[in-house]
Amino acid sequence: MQQRAPRIIVVAGARPNFVKIAPLLDQLESLKKAGRVETLLVHTGQHYDKALSHLFFEQMGIPQPDLNLEVGSGAHGKQTGDIMARFEPVVMDWKPDAVVVVGDVNSTIACALVASKLDVRVVHVEAGLRSFDRTMPEEINRLLTDAIADFLFVTEPAGVTNLQREGIPPEKIFLVGNMMIDSLRKFLPLARQSSALRDLQLSLDSNGPAPGAARFALLTLHRPSNVDEKENLEPLLEVLNEIGKDIPILFPAHPRTQERIKQFGLAKLVRTAWKTTDTGVWLTGPLGYLEFLHLMSESTLVLTDSGGIQEETTVLGIPCLTLRENTERPITVEQGTNTLVGSDRGAILACARQILAGNGKQGRTPDLWDGCAAERLVAILLRELQRHLT
Ligand code: UD1
Repeated sequence: MQQRAPRIIVVAGARPNFVKIAPLLDQLESLKKAGRVETLLVHTGQHYDKALSHLFFEQMGIPQPDLNLEVGSGAHGKQTGDIMARFEPVVMDWKPDAVVVVGDVNSTIACALVASKLDVRVVHVEAGLRSFDRTMPEEINRLLTDAIADFLFVTEPAGVTNLQREGIPPEKIFLVGNMMIDSLRKFLPLARQSSALRDLQLSLDSNGPAPGAARFALLTLHRPSNVDEKENLEPLLEVLNEIGKDIPILFPAHPRTQERIKQFGLAKLVRTAWKTTDTGVWLTGPLGYLEFLHLMSESTLVLTDSGGIQEETTVLGIPCLTLRENTERPITVEQGTNTLVGSDRGAILACARQILAGNGKQGRTPDLWDGCAAERLVAILLRELQRHLT
């Protein structure tokens, strides 16, 4: 008897999710054409701005979502609850064999919880990462999603150890590598053709643009612990201004961060018109995937509190200072170019100066971050689903 094709819902809601589903959807698309799988792409609408959502779909060629739940922003309880209420009828109507959720955002736990209660298999991409800091909303999302997932796909060995320690049976855990890096490897050549460097006049000289000649640092900040309280954000911006005396810092800021800078009266600590001859911290809106990747690959130093950027800089070989006390991605510190500097002024300044003096960490690319993670994941997922679809 011929088996029917497994029905898979793929969920994405926020910016980092889009970068991770792109290679997965590429793989599923060819299987779909061969009639080996049916898919439904659901966007929860957690991110809805052009810069945080549409631009990523456009630039990475991600198919338009089959459904957008349009939940928008809100307090955690409301946002998570709204996603659940709107996702539940989708699962009941479409009757998938599996729901794939990625990363650690509110959309991840909301849709995992709905699927699990409806007895649909939950597939978690980027499982097992732990910061061991439960004040981070993402840590709660990660712990809960992993506790109810049926298939857990992991990016680095520490993730496997964490899951085993939490009692997840080994047969549910698969170390396949990193889909964010699949995207980086696929899109880097295209990103390098972007006009980002030129637009920002970072490397213009009288002979025109000279990629590679630019000397600048790139900064992102959006964690609640760094930006939601003035007492935390202000000293951070002050020390960044210190570093900004030695190297211009470009700061493409998440909307919540821009909002907080205004609200706390900290606009004096950032500049808004870019000129390379000047120094300081230069604020712009969030950039597209290709532009950000381009700038990251050409930067001297990256300062961030993002998770994914720690991984991307490791692969690009760019020194990264993570403005957090902990990381759920320890391999980027152990093997990559990442250094945890927390919010300690002295540590941030000392590490930045070391990098600017040419003594940044060299690092190596972790195993399985080779651009083929999605291929491995989809092969395993199909095999496992087919076992259950007799
Ligand atoms: C979310 C994720 C975080 C991830 C980040 C990437 C959770 C708990 N957090 O944080 O892990 O690193 O995305 O960017 O899921 N806003 C807009 N436009 C948008 C979306 C949000 O202006 O398209 C503003 C709104 O003011 C909103 C705020 O950003 O209230 C926060 O958005 P939200 O989706 O709640 O969390 P992020 O901070 O984006």
